[in-house]
Amino acid sequence: MIVVIDGPAGSGKSSTAKAVAANLQIQFLDSGALYRVATLVYLNSRKNNRSFFEQLEESEISFYFKKEKFHALLNGQDVTEDIRSMNVSDNVSEVASDPKVRAYINNLMREAVKHDVYIADGRDLGTAVFPNAELKFYMVADLETRAERRYNEIKESDTEVTLEEIKQNIAQRDDKDSNRSSDPLKKADDAIEVNTSDMTFEDQVAFISNVIKDELSKQTNK
Ligand code: DC
Repeated sequence: MIVVIDGPAGSGKSSTAKAVAANLQIQFLDSGALYRVATLVYLNSRKNNRSFFEQLEESEISFYFKKEKFHALLNGQDVTEDIRSMNVSDNVSEVASDPKVRAYINNLMREAVKHDVYIADGRDLGTAVFPNAELKFYMVADLETRAERRYNEIKESDTEVTLEEIKQNIAQRDDKDSNRSSDPLKKADDAIEVNTSDMTFEDQVAFISNVIKDELSKQTNK
């Protein structure tokens, strides 16, 4: 079974999905992290003057979820921290707008979730990647709130970054992610919208967990 949460950058999808996964003891997949790993490959390919896509196809991208943390690996090396750098954030929308990169990452995700119950977060999971997902959520929050959340998340590892820079980065990404021609950020018609601007984190987690629990019990009673 697959549950998806889509929404713009900083809307709280990842942290909520992670907490829900830990709560319900299901698996978690952070699709944005996989696009960020692809972006690391892109940045490396620029350094060594190689074709990006060739290098991507030769790369081994894997992940695991342990102790409420999503770990991303590139060729066996843990790149969980590296993929949160501003350099990656500044380039990821561009990389993720390439249909070849999307097809590659989508395939990786569809294979990965086949054998377990997953909650996955992203931009186009409910519309393009898993259109038949059993449950779909679409999370939104105003720009100010989203920038503050992202700032608090990364300020310890990146002391140079300012709130204003993050706000600009998120606004630019919203624009690129929503207006790209290949699988843009969009609410699926059958997704449940959750506006988290005035919700506490605990409320978000409880609301989504309860909907999933109901669905899980419906599935087992079928
Ligand atoms: O969730 P995030 O901010 O870590 O995502 C990084 C980027 O990846 C985001 O700017 C858009 C892209 N992305 C995407 O295009 N499709 C997804 N399903 C998930 C992320």
